[in-house]
Amino acid sequence: MGLAGRRVLITSGPTREPLDPVRYLTNASSGKMGAALASAALARGASVVVVAGPGAPVPRRARAVPVTTALEMYRRTLAESRRADVVIAAAAVGDWRFAKISSRKIKRSSRGLSIRLVANPDIVKAVARRRRGRPAVVVGFALESHDWLSYAREKLVRKRLDLVVANKTAVLDSDRTRIALVSASGEKVLPAMTKAAAARAIFARIEGLLP
Ligand code: C5P
Repeated sequence: MGLAGRRVLITSGPTREPLDPVRYLTNASSGKMGAALASAALARGASVVVVAGPGAPVPRRARAVPVTTALEMYRRTLAESRRADVVIAAAAVGDWRFAKISSRKIKRSSRGLSIRLVANPDIVKAVARRRRGRPAVVVGFALESHDWLSYAREKLVRKRLDLVVANKTAVLDSDRTRIALVSASGEKVLPAMTKAAAARAIFARIEGLLP
């Protein structure tokens, strides 16, 4: 029970940005990695909060904080993480939201439509760069199609993370994954494995980083 008495917060799943009452922008994240991490943390004795985007599964013994948009995920994660020892950002946070949300359904027209998108805040960066009440270990993911280790190292420094889990693309919605663990002490590329096995490997490393 290596995490007995520890509080772990995990962001998981996609986010969803409304355009009008019936249309939205989202992504293909299934939340399977977040759920596997939550189960692994529970098995190690932690109390677990999952800030879960639409459709992201949450294990029964974890506390679910359901959210829809990236801004909601940002606010709830910052508030809930004040008491956390470990924060793991496994959510696929949408990079943009619509500048204006229409309260009425936008009418179809044959002329096309230009819509402005604005950037969403970086949630894990805001948690990791907090001066007071920063969790002891903050972990991010880096999903890349190429140069995965160099992007992971760049994220480790720019977002002030303690650990980056680098992921090859084409793992969204799959039960298997290929990860590398990148921290200040170096990097380790692991063989392809189930998301459950990857979650156990990630927590084995996190336990070594906890004071
Ligand atoms: O910068 P990039 O989106 O590639 O970083 C991915 C990591 O940052 C993931 O851990 C993801 O959960 C987190 N992230 C976040 N808030 C964002 C964008 C990404 O927490 N707005």
